[in-house]
Amino acid sequence: MKTNIGVFFGGRSTEHEISVISASQAMHAIDRNKYDVTPIYISKQGKWYTGDALLDVKNYKNIDELLSRCTEVYMRPVYNDYNLYKTKKPMFGSDVLTKLDVVIPVLHGSNGEDGIFEGVLETIGIPYAGCNTLSSANGMDKITMKMILKDNGIPVVNYIWFTDRQWFNQRDKLIEKIESEIGYPVIVKPANLGSSVGISRAKDRDELIQSVETAQKYSTRIVVEDMVEQLQEINCSVLGDCDDYQMSVLEEPIKTGDFLTYEDKYMGGSKGAKGMQASQKRIPAELPEEETSRIKFLAGETFRVLSCHGVSRVDVIVDRETRNIYVNEINTIPGSLSFYLWEATGISFTQLMDKLVSLAIKRKREQQAKTVSYDQNIFAMGGGTKGGIKK
Ligand SMILES: Nc1ncnc2c1ncn2[C@@H]1O[C@H](COP(=O)(O)OP(=O)(O)O)[C@@H](O)[C@H]1O
Ligand SMILES: [Mg+2]
Repeated sequence: MKTNIGVFFGGRSTEHEISVISASQAMHAIDRNKYDVTPIYISKQGKWYTGDALLDVKNYKNIDELLSRCTEVYMRPVYNDYNLYKTKKPMFGSDVLTKLDVVIPVLHGSNGEDGIFEGVLETIGIPYAGCNTLSSANGMDKITMKMILKDNGIPVVNYIWFTDRQWFNQRDKLIEKIESEIGYPVIVKPANLGSSVGISRAKDRDELIQSVETAQKYSTRIVVEDMVEQLQEINCSVLGDCDDYQMSVLEEPIKTGDFLTYEDKYMGGSKGAKGMQASQKRIPAELPEEETSRIKFLAGETFRVLSCHGVSRVDVIVDRETRNIYVNEINTIPGSLSFYLWEATGISFTQLMDKLVSLAIKRKREQQAKTVSYDQNIFAMGGGTKGGIKK
């Protein structure tokens, strides 16, 4: 029997559509001689569906029609139950549709890349590809991520963070702090979204207020950071686990405006609309040898200190004036799983998918080797039940 890989995608995220594209690319790259593939699409409403019709991106033009050809499914949050169940229990026969062996989450953004979905997989105990709950959550939150990187000596731009409530209660104090500690221009970001959603820049106080208003529509946590005016963006993918990882060649995404917009990233610039593949990039990026190795080193360090796993992409900002390098962010479920960077490094997309599966199985084995002792019944040992509990 072949290993059955459940690929989860879509999801309750602003990056829903991008996830559909990434997953479709990934599913086509999986070696079918070795693996079976079960596509599991999570709708924007959070329902799960499976069916072969989900394999073709063209079918997503009419979601209702597509889903009418699929089966609604779910998994139980029960340890060791890897079954995929039909939501509509059949009158006769089993409600088990199939059993998964390994899961590959290709869910960009919220409720996927942030560790929330990974928590479900941990509960079930099924081997899965990519970062665990902790590293996903740390990598997704732009504030927590910066704190960890800074604490480990990895350069990040100056920043200040606050909650929407703090902004409401002490706006003037925060503005003063931003102006004295960072100074205009600044970039304002919601802490936990991707694809440039809710991000804007501000060159004066009015624009700052406007930008924070925008960002807080998306998140309760907001980060204001130093804007690098003459920036060069460089990305590097990292593959492995935190003890054994490798770096890809570097890419330089080409932008059409002041910063990479949703259109630049996925539609080939503001005029085109050709899908993710159309976005312009220079691979490998043309940089001096020293900068290339420094960026690769920082990308690896970012992956390591955040305890990442599987395939991530670390995005770096180079200040064209000073040539200072800053880590901007990590994407723990990168667009297209960064396959194009691995191809340029000499690892095919099929090999990349294979590697993700073996890493998932390896982690599960390592987890099982750790002692977890909760099988003793303290009540049976005559423990007292009076008074307070010290834990
Ligand atoms: N500190 C900064 N200085 C200048 N430009 C920035 C800065 N931070 C982000 N940008 C621009 O904004 C884009 C989106 O920001 P990023 O932090 O990567 O958010 P996202 O998670 O949405 O991709 C970046 O690709 C870059 O073009
Ligand atoms: Mg980015």
